[in-house]
Amino acid sequence: MEVVGLDIGFGFTKATNGKNSTIFKSVYGEAQEISFSDTSLNPASREEHLHVEVEGKPWFVGPLAERQSAKRFFTLDQKEFVSGYSKILAMAALAPMVEQQDPVKLVVGLPIVHYKSHMKELAGILSGQHRVALIGPNGKREETVVRIAQVKVVPQPMGALLNLMLGNAGEIVNKRFATEKVGIIDIGFKTTDFTILDRTRYSERGSHSLESGISTAFSIIAEKLKEESGINVELYRLIDPVEQGFIKIRGKKFDLSKIRDGAFAKLAQAIANESNKLWADDWDLEAIVVAGGGGALLAPVLKPLLQGSVMTPETDGDPRLANVYGFCKYGKHLWTRGPAKAEAQAAPAA
Ligand SMILES: Nc1ncnc2c1ncn2[C@@H]1O[C@H](COP(=O)(O)OP(=O)(O)OP(=O)(O)O)[C@@H](O)[C@H]1O
Ligand SMILES: [Mg+2]
Repeated sequence: MEVVGLDIGFGFTKATNGKNSTIFKSVYGEAQEISFSDTSLNPASREEHLHVEVEGKPWFVGPLAERQSAKRFFTLDQKEFVSGYSKILAMAALAPMVEQQDPVKLVVGLPIVHYKSHMKELAGILSGQHRVALIGPNGKREETVVRIAQVKVVPQPMGALLNLMLGNAGEIVNKRFATEKVGIIDIGFKTTDFTILDRTRYSERGSHSLESGISTAFSIIAEKLKEESGINVELYRLIDPVEQGFIKIRGKKFDLSKIRDGAFAKLAQAIANESNKLWADDWDLEAIVVAGGGGALLAPVLKPLLQGSVMTPETDGDPRLANVYGFCKYGKHLWTRGPAKAEAQAAPAA
């Protein structure tokens, strides 16, 4: 039996079993015949070549779809995302990670605002046996069955706090987070989730999703680029250029740093306003944890705008992985340490 944490974000799909982790852009596309492939020139990491067949249909996923698919699918619509995207993205993440037929117990997150409406649907889509084939860069086909024995759906931002609270075997290592009232702001590509865990208990009143994330800032940047270059740059293709501070369109370099800084400042202000309003009565929060890939980007501008003691947790490596590590540890806490203990009441039942 294997416990896996899975976070199918609008920007990136992430999964870990505690030993290995994977992360790729949440984009997929029609598989194409590739007439020339020479991986010796640029050896591909596993995420660079995700060619999967899910229930008989072939897809390119993540960077391979971005590079090679003529028709690509990327959405910022939650309903469409759960019904049309979640299975393909989940299987592309899980199939290379789990042993054939080994039953998997999965902890998966949903944004706060969609938690109740999509929880059962998502658990239904992911549960059960899935026939998957992985096709390597040389065309070699490897068939497998991903067997998902149990699914626990949790509100997404809880992952970041569970990651701080629990150790790798699911044991409580940081009592502070189990005994205090803590707010979490998880800034993702499309959504920003706010939640309060009061001695690990989820607070409905203190939880909310804002339909704004890094992509909101990207929309401003994309609009400006459209004006200047005439090209409509898809939002998910702005991730690396925004980080670098420039983009090249048809050979011409456009500086993005100024517009990026303005757009980030505006987004940070909107997030701070929401948090200060939502948690106006929760002046007894011991800490506010700013998490998510977007949290890492916005923290320098957001921190001074928040009312409270702000923490930006260090995640070794990648800030986007904090939720999924928390989910995996929580799964271990629930399922591999004997019967759930009182502390394990953190998540509402899925
Ligand atoms: N090393 C990195 N590589 C790429 N993007 C990064 C990196 N570090 C931070 N980011 C930012 O992280 C953001 C995505 O964060 P995250 O993975 O938490 O979002 P998500 O979970 O996919 O979205 P949502 O929560 O809205 O569904 C991107 O918009 C990007 O700007
Ligand atoms: Mg997210």
